[in-house]
Amino acid sequence: MVKYDLLTFPVHGDHTGSLVALEKGADFPFDIKRVYYIWGTDKNAVRGKHAHRKLEQVIVCTSGSCDFILDDGKERTTVHLNSPVQGLHIKSNIWREFTNFSPDCVVMVLASEHYDESDYIRDYQTFLAEVSTTKRESR
Ligand code: TYD
Repeated sequence: MVKYDLLTFPVHGDHTGSLVALEKGADFPFDIKRVYYIWGTDKNAVRGKHAHRKLEQVIVCTSGSCDFILDDGKERTTVHLNSPVQGLHIKSNIWREFTNFSPDCVVMVLASEHYDESDYIRDYQTFLAEVSTTKRESR
């Protein structure tokens, strides 16, 4: 099984609408250093195609839906995101691709680190080599 967590956020809502607050502490797995969001993506575009050496992310589809394909170097799994109340928590060393965007899809990403290109693994063969080395070292 590829390791990931699907978080469900508490909703503060009333008859006029709903609100989710994400704050350092019990409800959130790391200190947020960066937030970015992606929208206006072609339905069949495939984004991502990278892993991170250190960074963790929580990904929220605040509007619409899309699919996240997660790969730990051994297996692949697809997670369908379609709710602003759910957050996909991905730790380091997981290859991710995202696709199948609805026209109204807005993906918000909360990241544990500042932007650092040296933390990215953008080549799949390099990713496979690095995860097999990491697993051997942690034995
Ligand atoms: P990229 O991480 O490749 O996007 P995706 O994984 O969604 O396909 O980033 C696209 C471009 O945006 C790339 O030129 C780097 C830049 N970028 C920043 O400058 N800061 C950021 O925090 C992020 C995530 C990307």
